[in-house]
Amino acid sequence: MSVTSPSPFETLFSRKAQDLPGLRVGDPRKSAELISFFAGFPDRDSLPKESVISATKTALEREGEWALQYGHGLGDRKLAGLLRDKLDRDFGIRADVDQILITAGASQAIGLAIDTLVDWGDVILTEAPTWMGAVRMFSNAGARAIGIPVDKHGTNVEALESTLADLKSQGITPKFIYVIPNFQNPSGVSTTLERRMRIIELAHEYGTLIFEDDAYADLRYSGEKIPPIHALDKHGATLYFSTLSKTLGAGMRLGWVVAHPSLIAKMAVLKVDGSTNVFGAHVAAEWIPEHLDNHIQQLVGIYRTRRDLMLDALEKHFPEGATWTTPEGGFFIWVTLPEVLDTTAMAPQARERGVEYLPGKTCFVDGSGDNMLRLSYSFARDEEIEPGIRILGEIIHGELAESGRGPNNT
Ligand SMILES: Cc1ncc(COP(=O)(O)O)c(C=O)c1O
Repeated sequence: MSVTSPSPFETLFSRKAQDLPGLRVGDPRKSAELISFFAGFPDRDSLPKESVISATKTALEREGEWALQYGHGLGDRKLAGLLRDKLDRDFGIRADVDQILITAGASQAIGLAIDTLVDWGDVILTEAPTWMGAVRMFSNAGARAIGIPVDKHGTNVEALESTLADLKSQGITPKFIYVIPNFQNPSGVSTTLERRMRIIELAHEYGTLIFEDDAYADLRYSGEKIPPIHALDKHGATLYFSTLSKTLGAGMRLGWVVAHPSLIAKMAVLKVDGSTNVFGAHVAAEWIPEHLDNHIQQLVGIYRTRRDLMLDALEKHFPEGATWTTPEGGFFIWVTLPEVLDTTAMAPQARERGVEYLPGKTCFVDGSGDNMLRLSYSFARDEEIEPGIRILGEIIHGELAESGRGPNNT
């Protein structure tokens, strides 16, 4: 789609629409033509096509016309019941079914929660770096987003505390703190139990809410499971977001939020869509009991292999002075390059050579992160990982040489 500029409808645009960045359409089919480390797309070969075909048939036979009708305002209740049981069994999250709102992916749930809480100019806190989609949503809502650094133990709680104290001294209560405690997108790190507890204490002390985004919860490849903040929070101040996108399939567009009933009630009123993917929800409810656990086990094997392949390739091809994280799960490795390099400027060169990645800048609410990049190992096939990292390594070496920082110039 080509966008003419300026638009003949400019004067009619909402305040929200006026300052939006340019359109960039994500398309997994296009990414599949490259060696793509760009997005959190699930592995294409293991998406469970066959079992979904049979679950679809059974769902249609069982549900009949109801599979093709509008649905419950909070989303399919059978699916919500299955999710409630899984959340309790796997993560110790206790919730009534009516505290679960089914949404078009976790993205929509986060958007609705922002809509419920944020007025133009309101302060919110978020990890820095954080999920690019959240950066976009905060900006769309006109939120004043303040970044809290993430280090190798997760959210930096000292920085969180001092930011909260500083805001308090100005009479400002942030609306929420957005965190991704497991295998954070984009850094890959997980927040320790102690820090999770501290986030809860601080949110309580300063009277704010916690947005816990646990999109990768099921995909742990090493290390010990840590309870989610929602399960630890005795104050009920945590909204827990997750999704079937990274397991059953992103094309289902099925996610959810678990939250205090008063928040669910507001979000459900703001969500005017005749229920979320009624047909797909019936299929998912049919598929989950028989297939989800086995499928997760299969995915853990696939992604663990890819993570290890990428870590080995980085070791082999990236220059001295580059550092990266070692995720225990999820899809992402976060790379920090020497400061002279600009990963946004390097991206077209990489694409030209058939490789794409996410420049770090997109993951910061203050636009920093010039010398950083996110590598996703979920979508590229095993055999593409080493060649892709080799190409990126060559580009980085070349850029360093040009900047006078290469091995021959030091
Ligand atoms: C951290 C995080 N949250 C939320 C989402 C949104 O997922 P979906 O809307 O597909 O459920 C993603 C997807 O990449 C993500 O990485």
